[in-house]
Amino acid sequence: MPHLNLESFNSLSLPTQCDDVEFLFQANYKNPDEGALIATRYKGREFFIVYKNGVKKLLKSDKVTRPSPNFILKHALLAYAKCSNSPILDSNVDNAPENTHLKTHDALKTISYFAENFPRDREVRIEIGFGSARHLLHQASVNPDVLFIGLEIHKPSIEQALKQIVIQNLNNIMILDYDARLFLEFVPSNIVGKIYVHFPVPWDKKPHRRVISEPFLKESERALRIGGTLELRTDSENYYRFALETFSSPRQSRFDVRKNQEIAIVSKYEDRWKKMEKNIYDVTFTCDIESPEPDMESTFSFSKTPINSDAVDSLSRETYKRDWGFIHVERIYSVGEHGAMIRLAMGSFDRPESTYILIENATARYYPTLPVRTSANLKAHILLDELLHG
Ligand SMILES: C[S@@+](CC[C@H](N)C(=O)[O-])C[C@H]1O[C@@H](n2cnc3c(N)ncnc32)[C@H](O)[C@@H]1O
Repeated sequence: MPHLNLESFNSLSLPTQCDDVEFLFQANYKNPDEGALIATRYKGREFFIVYKNGVKKLLKSDKVTRPSPNFILKHALLAYAKCSNSPILDSNVDNAPENTHLKTHDALKTISYFAENFPRDREVRIEIGFGSARHLLHQASVNPDVLFIGLEIHKPSIEQALKQIVIQNLNNIMILDYDARLFLEFVPSNIVGKIYVHFPVPWDKKPHRRVISEPFLKESERALRIGGTLELRTDSENYYRFALETFSSPRQSRFDVRKNQEIAIVSKYEDRWKKMEKNIYDVTFTCDIESPEPDMESTFSFSKTPINSDAVDSLSRETYKRDWGFIHVERIYSVGEHGAMIRLAMGSFDRPESTYILIENATARYYPTLPVRTSANLKAHILLDELLHG
């Protein structure tokens, strides 16, 4: 993580600009001697740099708002130290120019990309937990008119897939590092042709972590177009039985089951199980209904009635748990004479999100960006709004 070790830290009078970097405001820890966040804008990105006064005086990145690519952060850290005349004792920050840094890969997307504008110009197929990506790459090369979205949470598998996408010159794959259990709620209704779940982790001891579940099936049915399929392929008899039970809950769509069916491309896992002569089960769910679009009316705006400063303090370090997820205030900062800022963890238990809420003139807003638009985050927002307006 890029950081500067300072001999002493000098505050700037804000807002100000230095070496093309804008420093906007400072949010102090409750005990200002411990440190502060400095809101920073450079190259169109807004983020915080952090001053931490511990054994060392460090100027470094904020994990929640960290900008990408890395050179943006490094340039901002060096600009702050220079303009505030804060002498640097040592650092791991070079002053490398923009274009020598890691190229961001076109196929690698963030969840915000899908949340803001889900591609809907062609048929979409989704592969969940693509692992070695053999199946994903094969399907994309034989179906050039279809957009494939590959979901994976294992970073080396993602790296490997991105390399192969370049080598094979494929332009119809998007890769996302995100938990598949939460992704489908971003998908518009009736646009998906196939969802592949091949050899998911069986999670025999923690079944709540399985990809297949009743809510997942419900979201799949909504996202699939009529005739579209959700294809589970597994060597685990336990998982197969669990899926049968889940798929059997009463609904209008149908499913069928096959054993030891050959498919066009065999994954690394499948190779292994075949050599061991294990049975392979396919459970295929076929969508028979057209679904309405999901409700996207709720927003992340706060009520306009003034927030009482006691309400902010009373949130301090408490966790509010609900059946959809939680909110937990991690830290409260002071901003100027009357303002405050909250760092909050919120949303689903499976994929919580950290975010900042800036409170100025007794009104609140998320800063610098809104949370990702998941149903759990929207519910967390409603709860937070209620607590702030008590
Ligand atoms: C047993 S491997 C199978 C890989 C590949 N489908 C195959 O057939 O070879 C399961 C993969 O699912 C990924 N995975 C597990 N849970 C996931 C989740 N919630 N969301 C996305 N990927 C997940 C794992 O990282 C792993 O690569």
